[in-house]
Amino acid sequence: MPRLSVWFIRCSFIYLFLGFTLGGIILANKGYPFAPWVWSLLPAHMEFLLLGWMVQLTMGVAFWILPRFRSGPPRGNIDLVWSAFVILNTGIVMVAVQPFISMTWLTQTGRILETISVLLFVFALWQRVKAIEV
Ligand code: HEM
Repeated sequence: MPRLSVWFIRCSFIYLFLGFTLGGIILANKGYPFAPWVWSLLPAHMEFLLLGWMVQLTMGVAFWILPRFRSGPPRGNIDLVWSAFVILNTGIVMVAVQPFISMTWLTQTGRILETISVLLFVFALWQRVKAIEV
C-alpha cells in the first residue's frame, strides 16, 4: 500500500473514533441535558464522519487500488494527491472548530477547501479510472 494511502486511511480511522465519540456525547446530552454547549459539537460530528471518515477512507483506498500507469509514475501526480490530503484535513478542522471561535468565515473557507481537495483528487486520478482487459 502506498504511504499516502496509509495516511488517508489512518486519519479516517481517527476521525471515525472522534466522530462516534462526539455523536455519543451529543446523544447523551439529548437524553440527559447536562451542557447546552454540547450542541456546538454537531458540526464537528458531521464533518468528522462524512468527510473525515467516509470520504477520506474512499480516497485512500482509491489512490491505492485504481489501475496504475504502465509508463511514468505508476500512480500519477502524487504531489497533487498529497495536496488534496492536506487541504481536505485543513478544511475539516476549520469547519469543526468554528462554533468555538467566533470567526464565521472559517466554515465557508473550510468548505471551499474541502471542495478544492475533492476536485484536485478527481483531477489527479481521472486517468486511472479505466477498463483493463483480462
Ligand atoms: C458514519 C456514521 C455517522 C454519520 C455519517 C453521522 C452523521 C450525522 C449527521 C449528518 C447528523 C445531522 C443530522 C441532522 O442535522 O438532521 C447527525 C446527527 C447526530 N448524530 Fe450522527 N452520524 C453517524 C454516527 C453517529 C453515532 C454512532 C452516534 C451516536 C453514538 C450519532 C449521534 C448523533 C446525534 C445525537 C445527532 C443529533 C441528532 C439530532 O439533531 O437530534 N451519530 N449525524
